[in-house]
Amino acid sequence: MRTENEHTIFLKDYAPTPYRVVSVDMDFKITEAVTRVRTQMTIEPRAETAPGTPLVLDGDGLTLDSIAIDGLPLMLSAYAANEAGLTLVEPPFRRFVLETEVNLKPEENKKLMGLYRSSGTWCTQCEPEGFRRITYYLDRPDILAPFKVRITAPREVAPVLLSNGNLIEAGDAGDGMHFALWEDPFPKPAYLFALVAGALGSITDTFTTMSGRKVDLAIYCTHGKEPECAYAMDSLKRSMAWDEKRFGREYDLDVFNIVAVADFNFGAMENKGLNIFNDKLVFALPETASDANYANIERVIAHEYFHNWTGNRITCRDWFQLCLKEGLTVYRDQEFSSDERSRPVQRIHDVENLRITQFPEDGGPLAHPPRPDRYREINNFYTTTVYQKGSEVVRMLATLLGEAGFRKGMDLYFERHDGEATTIEAFLKVFEDASGLDLSQFARWYLQAGTPTVTANDSYDAASQTYTLTLSQTTAPTPNQPDKPPFVIPIKFGLIGPNGSPMGWTGVSGGTVKDDIIVLDGDTITLTFTGVANRPVPSLFRGFSAPVRLASSLSQQDLLFLARHDSDPFNRWDALQTVTTNLMAGSAAGKAPSNGDIDALRQAILDTLGDTSLDHAFKAQVIAMPDEAVIARQIGANVDPFTVAQSRKALIGAIVGPAADRLSAIYEDLSINEPYSPDAAQAGRRSLRNGLLSLLTAGSERGAALAEAQYYAATNMTDRYAALAISARNWTPAALALLGDFRTRFGGDPLVFDKWLVASSQAPDEGVIERMRAILAAPDFPRTNPNRLRSLLGSFVMSNPAQFARADGLGFRFVTEAAAEIDHVNPQVAARVLTGFRILPLLEPKRREAARAALEALKNLQGLSRNTGDIVDRILAG
Ligand code: ARG
Ligand code: ZN
Repeated sequence: MRTENEHTIFLKDYAPTPYRVVSVDMDFKITEAVTRVRTQMTIEPRAETAPGTPLVLDGDGLTLDSIAIDGLPLMLSAYAANEAGLTLVEPPFRRFVLETEVNLKPEENKKLMGLYRSSGTWCTQCEPEGFRRITYYLDRPDILAPFKVRITAPREVAPVLLSNGNLIEAGDAGDGMHFALWEDPFPKPAYLFALVAGALGSITDTFTTMSGRKVDLAIYCTHGKEPECAYAMDSLKRSMAWDEKRFGREYDLDVFNIVAVADFNFGAMENKGLNIFNDKLVFALPETASDANYANIERVIAHEYFHNWTGNRITCRDWFQLCLKEGLTVYRDQEFSSDERSRPVQRIHDVENLRITQFPEDGGPLAHPPRPDRYREINNFYTTTVYQKGSEVVRMLATLLGEAGFRKGMDLYFERHDGEATTIEAFLKVFEDASGLDLSQFARWYLQAGTPTVTANDSYDAASQTYTLTLSQTTAPTPNQPDKPPFVIPIKFGLIGPNGSPMGWTGVSGGTVKDDIIVLDGDTITLTFTGVANRPVPSLFRGFSAPVRLASSLSQQDLLFLARHDSDPFNRWDALQTVTTNLMAGSAAGKAPSNGDIDALRQAILDTLGDTSLDHAFKAQVIAMPDEAVIARQIGANVDPFTVAQSRKALIGAIVGPAADRLSAIYEDLSINEPYSPDAAQAGRRSLRNGLLSLLTAGSERGAALAEAQYYAATNMTDRYAALAISARNWTPAALALLGDFRTRFGGDPLVFDKWLVASSQAPDEGVIERMRAILAAPDFPRTNPNRLRSLLGSFVMSNPAQFARADGLGFRFVTEAAAEIDHVNPQVAARVLTGFRILPLLEPKRREAARAALEALKNLQGLSRNTGDIVDRILAG
């Protein structure tokens, strides 16, 4: 069976609408039972539109109650309305006001798109196509209009009434009702519309912008949670200051509101002047939130705030251009985090995330370019490729243009496109105009999917003091893209001499080298460096200057040399990760690592730990063992995730064994006696200490007891959760008891419950699926809440490959059966969980078949959503 809607939408078919919206006035009358929405929109035909052209408005699940033009009710023959839209057969050929009325039942909306209720609060999510679930509209991002929104609601249940823009009027409406009138002067697409009504508490603050305007800030939340919003508020103020300083961007309204809600399909949403957040990205207290949670809150608060310029003031022409706002805004939030915390540590963190999540996507059946050219369901394209790879592409632009050149391009972007809905082409053009560079080949990064592999081979001729470096690129085919013309790959590099210091050269030929950047833009280049006094070790892709896989001919010895001497901290980290990944991948393929290899690796780790010039957070990254997904990718085909997990653990054991005393001593030394603070320095110290605990637990006898002791002694969530997660992942004798304790200790807190779900889903033992089934089947499991579902199922498919991809297929079936149920309630969550099946082509044949069978069974079910159908079809086709 094929799913409900086969329709594929293509970028090449883009055309503007025949009519435009001049302005919108909305009137929401909220009552417990129903919300009545009256919309008046001023519409006019475009200059090129022929008289008599019908006007087609989007709708989703709406029933039209009344319709009028310029105040006069329409005759039945003048329009056609149904669930999916409203067509005016022959609208007036001039400016007119269309008034419609619909009634909504937010209580019943479990898809969490459009207007819905979360813990009693009315709230909205419109991106990408949720506004059509609120009113009939031209629901596409190239329709921009100023909005005025009047909300009337019962004062008791909804004392707080919010929408976009500035509050212009509020007051009593009789009969226990009150109202508020909001006006957003900035023309915006409907996906940025938001409304909130509820009984909420708040914290407030102010920010004075660089031109001296005072902005009122508020964060709204469930009563009682106010103290948990302080860190988010602090992050907001720092974000506002940073965007002024780094990009010259000032905030533009008198108020900036954030609302935290418990039921939300993803992280957060940048609605103009009224950001709505998943509460897990707002609430933080030391006892219930980890350092990682704090860092995430800071990052996402910044991300949504930065969208005010990159997304709202300048938006996307169509959803194919999603990366225009998301890739760029991720780049901006990563830069913010780098400036606020440690740049090298942030970079390592971001690249690790890219390798664990985006590389598998780009190398599998769901691969797509950062700017796709087709989709069946746009919700399935809010991906790590659009976001994280999109950011890498912007970062490459910044690398190629240099800091000043990049800023010049960004300034031009804001100047030229403010108030527009635009495209990737327009974005690239500003950098061409600012720099004089031709970026037409560079544009392939947006148009072609796949992770390029760059191969590096080198040789040194002592007699002529000549160093030769050959660099080639290839990219494997991806769905719909069999051929991959070469990318423009900036390779930031250096040559390192025998004593560990940088080495120069007198001349270079054979390709483009500007300062410390090689530009590889053909299939292959051979660079010849002359005047090189000794055989150098090349340090390539410093700071991870391009999102590629490097296959280099460097020996383990050279890599260990880089790990010790590279002046680029990213490559120091990466060199050691490469050594470890190679050894683990080799051992999973039956090639046991030599004692020499292991000793060298252990020594490198100990040397790093002993190096007083390095900070704790960086050391923590260096000693972290590669993720199973990274090892699997290195193996490349016929993967048995169970063997991968075992080889990984065995190698950790071999590394740790003789060093266990030393590692435990460092672990003890790192304990903290001051009161908890989420700052980068303290968090770094904790992360190193917990990294050591992880090594000791995976690789020695003593770790399990240390973890158990740390769990009970912990005074903050970071240390307690680390001990719990490490115990669960290594399935220590105490693991089950710790999970039990954690569950009761934090009984009532849903966000801590999520942590318990994640830890529970990570257990590698054979019983994990049965326990998860029981968790899901419990009558009080909150099965409509995306956070709960994703914590249990999302983290299982993504981070427990050995059990998810069990040879007997039990893990696959567990997930497809759960997804089938979720699909009826919330298709977006179901589809997202199923993307975990993208590892299918990597697996050995038996597991591959089991995965395929589970997906086929799901596909055969009746009434599958387009979201889920699209993911299943693409994985099966790949
Ligand atoms: N624009 C939001 C952000 O800041 C995310 C919206 C996600 N929408 C979706 N359908 N997945 O990234
Ligand atoms: Zn975003």
